[in-house]
Amino acid sequence: MKLFLDTANIEEIKAANALGVISGVTTNPSLIAKEGRVFEQVVREITSIVDGPISAEATSSEASSIVVEAKELAGIHPNIVVKIPLTAEGLKAIAELAKKGIKTNATLVFSANQALLAALAGASFVSPFVGRLDDAGHDGMEIVSDIMDIYGTYDFPTQVIAASIRHPMHVVMAAKAGADIATIPYQVLKQMIAHPLTDVGIKKFMDDWAKVPKK
Ligand code: E4P
Repeated sequence: MKLFLDTANIEEIKAANALGVISGVTTNPSLIAKEGRVFEQVVREITSIVDGPISAEATSSEASSIVVEAKELAGIHPNIVVKIPLTAEGLKAIAELAKKGIKTNATLVFSANQALLAALAGASFVSPFVGRLDDAGHDGMEIVSDIMDIYGTYDFPTQVIAASIRHPMHVVMAAKAGADIATIPYQVLKQMIAHPLTDVGIKKFMDDWAKVPKK
């Protein structure tokens, strides 16, 4: 399973990229708004840091306008993937963009049926929102497993991004469910690195090393 970083914060992206474990970045309008910067500038900067798929979200609601917006976003850099909310208009836009060779990420996906439709329309990626489903009292990761089963049965090439990841166990569960990618906040990445026994182990090794006679 690959990891994408779910943020529009340049410092976080630089720090995560330096670890060599990040293959792409996902953003959304809320994450962009948090940075207080011009959308296109942020996206352009992200493409200069991470060499992989960078999701930038279209904000129009009609298919024709989504397609216009998507073409503009795709023109920023070849690695741009246009994030499109899973609506009827979104599906129309995804289908048209697939014919034009523009990559899309069907977002705000909360059911296996929505993911099936995204694949049929030709989405490059689909993003089931695990944490938001958990918040609503569902088992968010079950949807990821269902989507993996369905896509596997029919050999759909659409890649599944486990999104709305809230904690390290979500990442383990996404990997066990066979998700192609988990997109994670920087905080979760930091939590994945840390283990108290690693700290205890380093301290013990260093304390013992100090007792070794040096020439
Ligand atoms: C996915 O691409 C979204 O940007 C993101 O995972 C949403 O997460 P949230 O539910 O924590 O806002």
